[in-house]
Amino acid sequence: MEGLPPGSRAPAGAQAVSYTRDPLGFLARHQRRFGDIFTVRFPFFGHIVYVARPDLVKAVFTGSPSVFHAGEANATVLEPALGPNSVLTLDGEPHMRQRKLLLPPFHGERIQRYGELIVEMTRKEMESWPVGEPFALRPHTQRITLAVIMRAVFGVHDEARLERFERLIDDFARRVGVITSFPFMRRDLGRWSPWNRFLRSREALDEFIYEEIRMRRAEPGHEERDDVLSLLLGARDEDGAAMSDTELRDELVTVLGAGHETTATGLAWAVERLVRNPAVLAKLRDSIAAGSEEYLGATVKETLRARPVIVDVARKLKAPARVGEWDLPAGTFVLPAIAALHYREDLFPAPEEFRPERFLDGKADNYAWIPFGGGVRRCIGAAFAEYEMRLILREFVERAELRAVDEKPERVKVRNITLTPARGARVIQASAAA
Ligand code: HEM
Repeated sequence: MEGLPPGSRAPAGAQAVSYTRDPLGFLARHQRRFGDIFTVRFPFFGHIVYVARPDLVKAVFTGSPSVFHAGEANATVLEPALGPNSVLTLDGEPHMRQRKLLLPPFHGERIQRYGELIVEMTRKEMESWPVGEPFALRPHTQRITLAVIMRAVFGVHDEARLERFERLIDDFARRVGVITSFPFMRRDLGRWSPWNRFLRSREALDEFIYEEIRMRRAEPGHEERDDVLSLLLGARDEDGAAMSDTELRDELVTVLGAGHETTATGLAWAVERLVRNPAVLAKLRDSIAAGSEEYLGATVKETLRARPVIVDVARKLKAPARVGEWDLPAGTFVLPAIAALHYREDLFPAPEEFRPERFLDGKADNYAWIPFGGGVRRCIGAAFAEYEMRLILREFVERAELRAVDEKPERVKVRNITLTPARGARVIQASAAA
């Protein structure tokens, strides 16, 4: 740890175990104990420097993209799933090219065209909720966000194809976790080894996606369609070049991977927090009944503060860089510690409390509230995710009467690279949804 910011001397394995047990607490505790820039050690990844103060976060997010590589850092974990052309795993010029192609379909105004679809999928899913008995909400929110992504992003509407697509995604999702979490598993250890099973599920999913791309290209009038795949088929880069099929595949899988579990988990947390804060829930219900969206928007922001679905975002230094008072060597991983920042008393007084009022002016500081990361890597789907969360949450609150199964907050559990409620946000619905 010579020359690196302070940190615990505990063995890497022990640090990884305490991180996995309680990632929110782990990062917040480190910030309180070691300061705003600290070092941790994990197996496989080695030393990682975390920053947890807005000016340091700003230095990382606005640092030169050719020095602060995000793609390389993300690729360590995600490349087997997303591929070499993914906006998440690229850096420099190739990253900017993909990002510029991908941004327009997710622009604030464009996404509003999916509003009706989101509401329709939500109402349909709510019909399957049990009444008067405990159930976990997260699988339901995930079915909604998946239904939305398959239609709004991929433009699939045929029932038989939707069913097949969902099975393939499900299989892929089941196989991918172990591969992303444990790089040493990426080895051919026989037909039934995790790696080979993963490769087979990826191949089957890819086959479906390439089929969809071929069919869409051949479809007369696809230029008029408003799903993301059709929009991307018409997208051109600065040299007038269209996206290749492999680029399309990698970006679509990226959006699928980055977009539906995250939003579903955010929604599950929103309900987990709301049912344990009945006064906030009542206020939200009243504000919606009065036709206001302000408190709803603030509730979504406060959920992502108190329970950030992703706790940290990574950059890998391509050259030595100064961050705060530290000269960090090339090769160092530097991570804004989202969770530690969101629990700073000076930025968010009484951080343990769930208080949407903090965000009632609609604004959130770019370097203090960072559930979507920042800079030239800020989440492309941020506007879409917040919009989707607002619409779905409004349906839940307006149409269903939900309460907690027990008073104790749900523990935070690491699932792939996200933080989810350990019991899936268990609730009871008092009577059938209106
Ligand atoms: C609550 C839901 C979501 C959360 C918490 C979330 C969070 C994040 C975070 C933390 C990053 C990394 C940013 C960085 O490195 O600075 C990211 C990147 C990204 N997200 Fe999201 N995301 C969500 C939903 C979505 C959705 C719905 C989509 C697509 C429709 C999406 C697409 C992406 C893409 C493409 C990137 C890569 C951007 C780049 O590297 O240039 N995300 N997201």
